[in-house]
Amino acid sequence: MAKKVDWSTIVTSDDLTADAKLLLPLPDGLGLRLNAYSMACYQPIFNELAAVFPPKAICEIGVSKAELSAILLDLAEKNNADLALVDPALAPEGRDWLEKHQSEGRIKLFESESISFLAKDAERFDYFFIDGDHNYQTVRDELRLIDAAKGKSPYIVLLHDVGWPCARRDMYYNKARIEERHPAQPGYLSPFEQEVCEFGIDYKIPVAIQEGGARNGVLTAVEDFIMQSDGAWRYYDVPLFFGLGLLWNTECFDEDKNQAILAIAESLMRWRTLFGTSELNRLMLLMRLQQSGLTWQSQQREIARLGEVIRVLRKKLSDQTAASF
Ligand SMILES: C[S@@+](CC[C@H](N)C(=O)[O-])C[C@H]1O[C@@H](n2cnc3c(N)ncnc32)[C@H](O)[C@@H]1O
Repeated sequence: MAKKVDWSTIVTSDDLTADAKLLLPLPDGLGLRLNAYSMACYQPIFNELAAVFPPKAICEIGVSKAELSAILLDLAEKNNADLALVDPALAPEGRDWLEKHQSEGRIKLFESESISFLAKDAERFDYFFIDGDHNYQTVRDELRLIDAAKGKSPYIVLLHDVGWPCARRDMYYNKARIEERHPAQPGYLSPFEQEVCEFGIDYKIPVAIQEGGARNGVLTAVEDFIMQSDGAWRYYDVPLFFGLGLLWNTECFDEDKNQAILAIAESLMRWRTLFGTSELNRLMLLMRLQQSGLTWQSQQREIARLGEVIRVLRKKLSDQTAASF
């Protein structure tokens, strides 16, 4: 009897058939969800970067279920580096994962918001993975704090959600903390609509009602940070899995390291349209999935309503039949 795999939850390359494993090459240890939203998906890029600039201390902002953390722990172990996890509201899965791995002493959890953490602790890290509150004010301030703390010491910043939909649209985990916020609400987002709409990907967290404009979104924050800073920044992005940004200040590295990082970034640029094609296809499938769910729910409601109509009519009929005898 063939092994049954619940591919609607989380799969690894071990779950694939022997042929599929060769045809769908996955990096070691990657657990893939149906909605591949984790920064863990960029593991091959992180491995390449670590080969040219080995990490000594890694900081992950925004941990959630610790899917990226698992990848980063592996990277930390291979390089004898420390790993700091910063999240004020870790998901239960993240807490479970941490319980299993924290005893090794390499990982430390900080249950605070990124801004207060970075304001006092940023100096000692050489890799920053930014994936916390996806809005202009937070990301701009995170970058400013890292820049101020690090000065000309070498470090690399990797940012998630620099692609659609958060590139040009704020999302607020903690609205109350953001002074520069846009009108926002939970709702559906579509790459075919500028406003929060009735059909698209479901966001339960408040998102800016309007896409675009000044001081809106993660990518806008990166661009404004670079423009307002006097560093010699290089920025590249990968438009896949909601977008990965790679940012470094060339003044912090010698010529050889700069060339090596640049070579990785440039190699990714060659495949931008391929990534974009795959990403739009993924987004459209997610939207279709969401639509099917909504259609199913409304059909269930209609079935229940018609059931009630039938019940009432049956009762009426049986009352009339009884009265006519
Ligand atoms: C998209 S999830 C992170 C996913 C994870 N990095 C991965 O790739 O697997 C975002 C997380 O950021 C956290 N978060 C929200 N605002 C934050 C802030 N200001 N500082 C740090 N973390 C924050 C949330 O609690 C949530 O768990």
